[in-house]
Amino acid sequence: MMAFLHHVRMKKSGDLALQSNSTGKVSLVGAGPGDPDLLTVKALKAIQSADIVVYDRLVSEAIMALVPHGVTRFFVGKSCKQKVMPQEEIHELLISLAKKGNDVVRLKGGDPFMFGRGGEEAIELAKHSIPFEIVPGITSAHGCGAYAGIPLTHRGLATGVRIITGHRTADEDKEEPLELDWKSLADTETTLVVYMGLANLALIVRKLMEHGLSAHYPAAAIAHGTMPSQRVVIADLATIAEKTKDAQLASPVLVIIGKVAALGRELEWFKSELIDNKENYPEIFTKLSH
Ligand SMILES: C[S@@+](CC[C@H](N)C(=O)[O-])C[C@H]1O[C@@H](n2cnc3c(N)ncnc32)[C@H](O)[C@@H]1O
Repeated sequence: MMAFLHHVRMKKSGDLALQSNSTGKVSLVGAGPGDPDLLTVKALKAIQSADIVVYDRLVSEAIMALVPHGVTRFFVGKSCKQKVMPQEEIHELLISLAKKGNDVVRLKGGDPFMFGRGGEEAIELAKHSIPFEIVPGITSAHGCGAYAGIPLTHRGLATGVRIITGHRTADEDKEEPLELDWKSLADTETTLVVYMGLANLALIVRKLMEHGLSAHYPAAAIAHGTMPSQRVVIADLATIAEKTKDAQLASPVLVIIGKVAALGRELEWFKSELIDNKENYPEIFTKLSH
């Protein structure tokens, strides 16, 4: 009992040198898109009781400010162009920290299982018999949609949602052509949410138009969604890439393509900068406003 109490006291102090016979637990925690108020209660509890936090680039500063003083932090973030730590090394780090008896929070932007490689990390932990849990987070699709006033589904406008990556390849080390099922994606009944699509936006909209979507179909690009720095561009397919470039939207950016994007003009409620290209509005935009 005394040994157990000592162990608990040591863990609360966040002592990295802690050595224990028992393996610690890894919590794969979704931090949501940025606004700290969008953290789940479970995520906050995990952050507050962790010995060590291993976090990504997309975890906002406001969320990192909630990590108690004295808790060791490892930044393993990566952007498209630059990798801070290869994925295999992240696996090794999580495993070795847990084996030393630390309770580790692996904090990721959005949800760990949505384009977050959370599944790969969970597989490695399971392979090494490290206890783990998954704490879901609000995805940027949901957070950006809500904070830009764009419902992802809406009666009469969208019966479903497709969520895709606009990055060229699943493996960030290789440059491969963006091969997507453009025919099925060019669907006017479904909202298309594009993660990591900023660099290829012109190509994506061109492909969708070649496969049948109108040049006047609505689209929105949301930068820094849910954060005070949120900026939103609403335009049609023909101009969204150019308008996004003109507005110099900076990563992270989420793109929403679909009739629902036009509602962002009417339902904008969060104090963000809305770059609204009214002069290009086709029939769909004007119909929706009346
Ligand atoms: C590697 S993915 C991570 C997705 C995350 N796991 C999720 O559930 O949303 C990174 C991409 O998510 C999108 N993203 C994440 N946070 C965002 C935010 N606050 N605003 C806009 N897009 C965001 C961007 O498309 C970014 O390139």
